[in-house]
Amino acid sequence: MIIRKATLNDVSQIVEIHSDAFEDFFLTSLGPMFLNFYYGAFLRNKETGMFCVVENDEILGFSAVTKYCSGFNSKLLKENLFRFGWVGLKLLFTRPDALLRLIKNFTKKSESVNEPEDYAELYSIGVSKIAQGRGVGKVLLTATEEFLIKNGVYKVSLTTDFYNNESAIAFYSKMGYSILYDFVAYPNRKMYRLIKNLNTSETVI
Ligand SMILES: CC(C)(COP(=O)(O)OP(=O)(O)OC[C@H]1O[C@@H](n2cnc3c(N)ncnc32)[C@H](O)[C@@H]1OP(=O)(O)O)[C@@H](O)C(=O)NCCC(=O)NCCS
Repeated sequence: MIIRKATLNDVSQIVEIHSDAFEDFFLTSLGPMFLNFYYGAFLRNKETGMFCVVENDEILGFSAVTKYCSGFNSKLLKENLFRFGWVGLKLLFTRPDALLRLIKNFTKKSESVNEPEDYAELYSIGVSKIAQGRGVGKVLLTATEEFLIKNGVYKVSLTTDFYNNESAIAFYSKMGYSILYDFVAYPNRKMYRLIKNLNTSETVI
């Protein structure tokens, strides 16, 4: 098993793993065309890090992080408006409700929380179902955190579901993450925001 930076050639395998690991998630419901656009745009952005764990030429898991949190998804859409045009057009005709939700989630800031937003954000970490529980997630998250530290970023945050999500929450807790707050994402999905201080000589908050 090796860990390396992801490249644009990995995007189709990353999309397969995303679809497998995040089966019932909203972004997955938008289909492989959207996910290909999203992870391609993620990789092209200069403020991001994407890693994958590979065994026998097969990707077992991936992570995607940005060095800053504030307004990242909306910036990604603006940077890739032409590419998003085709995906957006398809969604407009097939899933107009989903397109509205996507745009709201990507462009709207939380109304209930006044956050400092001075941390990196882990947007995705996913391991294919057959490889879960073998330490792949730990290797990915450790490499992602090391990347942030090397880039002078010492706090990392993420959002994860509040309900029916014991497994991921246990994983993050084991990896040193704690709850910053909970909130409701559009239209009605209760989420946690978790945070970890990567500078062990300080405490978060
Ligand atoms: C969550 C996920 C990324 C974890 O990756 P993984 O490869 O299965 O986890 P690992 O085997 O690396 O486990 C790392 C540590 O977390 C612990 N852990 C993982 N899942 C756990 C669980 N359900 N309960 C308790 N501890 C757990 C492991 O015991 C291990 O601890 P150790 O280092 O002391 O042995 C992976 O299971 C996954 O992709 N799940 C589906 C997608 C998802 O929920 N992603 C995150 C949501 S935002």
